[in-house]
Amino acid sequence: MPSRPYVIDQMISAKSIAARIEELASEIRSHYQGTDKLIVVGLLRGSFVFIADLVRELDLPVEVDFLEASSYGDAMESSREVRILKDLRGEIAGRDVLVVEDIVDTGFTLSHVLHLLESRNPARMEVCALLNKPTRREVDIKARWTGFEIPDEFVVGYGIDFAQRNRNLPFIGKVRFTDEG
Ligand code: IMP
Ligand code: MG
Repeated sequence: MPSRPYVIDQMISAKSIAARIEELASEIRSHYQGTDKLIVVGLLRGSFVFIADLVRELDLPVEVDFLEASSYGDAMESSREVRILKDLRGEIAGRDVLVVEDIVDTGFTLSHVLHLLESRNPARMEVCALLNKPTRREVDIKARWTGFEIPDEFVVGYGIDFAQRNRNLPFIGKVRFTDEG
């Protein structure tokens, strides 16, 4: 449980998220038109809501798998040391892999995961990230599809947590501490 008192200010409404996902899905659908090898790899836990909405807009034959990498723990800063906590269940060799991430921040998590998956020889691999914080980047990573670019704020909701809370909010909001004056 977070120890400091805070409130959440809405940044992106549920309606804007839904509209943006329709656009992303239509671009992704055209990109993968004709393939029957698509596997969507969700990075747990932050992407679980996004992936659920995204795959339901994808009118394509698709498989879904999950991978969990450690990142922040309960802190608000990346540890820069990425460990795989839960690996994929299936093989990705020769497959079209679409990695779905909640936020690309420093880029350490995604860079580590992409290197790992690349070593398993997928046919093609792309990234779709719901949020991008470009000003925070330390590793040169770019998602082919991005939902929204956001400023350097700590956000929660729509799957994304602060110390495991607030994943169930239907919108994305920023955390504002109320003991800061
Ligand atoms: P990176 O390795 O610094 O790019 O961190 C990426 C991961 O950190 C994301 O997958 C999120 O799980 C987490 N993260 C980054 N920014 C935020 C945030 O504003 N709120 C909650 N989690 C975040
Ligand atoms: Mg994450």
